[in-house]
Amino acid sequence: MRRTEFIRSMAGLLAAASVTPGMARGAARPETAGVPWPAVDAGSEGFWKFVRDQFPLTTERAYLNTGGLGASPYVVIDAVKAKMDELEKISEPGHDDRIWTDIKSAAGALMGCDAEELAFTRNTTEGINIVANGLPFRKGDEIITTTHEHVGNAFTWLELQKRTGVVLKFFEPSTESQQENLDRIARLITTKTRLVSIPHAVTTTGLILPVKAIAELTRAKKIWFFVDGAQTAGMFPFSLHDIGCDAYATSGHKWLLGPKETGLLYVRKEMLDTVEAKFVGAYSARDFDLQKGTSSLTLSAQRYEYGTVSIPLRVGLGAAIQFIGRIGIATVWERDRTLSTRLFRGLKEIPDVRVLSPVEDGMRSAMVTFMHTKLPHTDVQKHLDDYNLRTRGVSEGGLAALRISTHIYNTPEEVDRVIEGVRSVKTK
Ligand SMILES: Cc1ncc(COP(=O)(O)O)c(C=O)c1O
Repeated sequence: MRRTEFIRSMAGLLAAASVTPGMARGAARPETAGVPWPAVDAGSEGFWKFVRDQFPLTTERAYLNTGGLGASPYVVIDAVKAKMDELEKISEPGHDDRIWTDIKSAAGALMGCDAEELAFTRNTTEGINIVANGLPFRKGDEIITTTHEHVGNAFTWLELQKRTGVVLKFFEPSTESQQENLDRIARLITTKTRLVSIPHAVTTTGLILPVKAIAELTRAKKIWFFVDGAQTAGMFPFSLHDIGCDAYATSGHKWLLGPKETGLLYVRKEMLDTVEAKFVGAYSARDFDLQKGTSSLTLSAQRYEYGTVSIPLRVGLGAAIQFIGRIGIATVWERDRTLSTRLFRGLKEIPDVRVLSPVEDGMRSAMVTFMHTKLPHTDVQKHLDDYNLRTRGVSEGGLAALRISTHIYNTPEEVDRVIEGVRSVKTK
């Protein structure tokens, strides 16, 4: 880039920053910031108002796309900024095993695994890539997945198929019966099946798949089992050891409410040597000797991490896990589910609306998806936009629908606005 172009592009960036001065300088704190937390009470709107006030998120627009990206609370943003300020004063990277282990221990406590089984990643997609490229597949090996995958768990496997000759096989996830989902997977299994790779909560309909039962099936057949957990960490409680999958990838920047570009990859202890670390460097290494030509990987999942990373982002992820833990993941789930059930029931009553999410409570997550039978989903989305409602269009799995995520910063009033907005859409 020439000097004049550089100056012009920097001027552009500065101008962009100045249109959002509040954000650039730190938004004003609500009264409750610094005030001691009230007792956690999932049934108290006062408690949830307190929680809502911990976010700089605007109240002018209802943000209903946590499945896409979560909003961070002040404590997360402050933790990132404070660490960055601290490190930039001394220009040090701030790499610190003790801090990393503390954050992974907290994440392990939340997700039911050991700190040594977790690697920091940039996002779920990176975790999927580490697993897809690290497993020792051979040409002709079969991989089972669903027809409703997010691009992150679709593109990775499609490219692997192209490069290595593995064969992808698909099943349509049933929103009606978990037994049917198990049967559909079982019917695809052959002697060549090496892996089942499915989401814990499906991105399209929010369906929660029966991962524990699937793990029992794959274990019995000696098939690896990978779970795409992009939509689950921070939404509801689960234990990875209890599920019994071989690997699980999640994002820090969705339901966990952490900084953007944070994620975690779980690889079961016994699988660490099977999922080969393909990208390695500083922090993957236990020791190496260039003269002797020897090297060995760290014994933990840290082997999947390499090179300089952003410590402020990791510290922010730690603050986010702490924030979720302050409320309690069971309470978070109770709130998220109360809101999504209210939405589900409200949408069900609207003529010309088809709700695509499961009817059975135990199969439904905090993402509810619906379509209008007489209008394209893009028209409905535009109409809801005018109501200041941020929704997400769903095109995966051949759907043309809208998805609404409800998390702890959302309110019953916002849910009612969605219902009212959908009800008021004109069919001409
Ligand atoms: C099921 C699923 N997998 C993977 C991803 C990708 O997540 P990330 O962008 O954090 O890698 C998403 C994102 O929405 C998702 O819903």
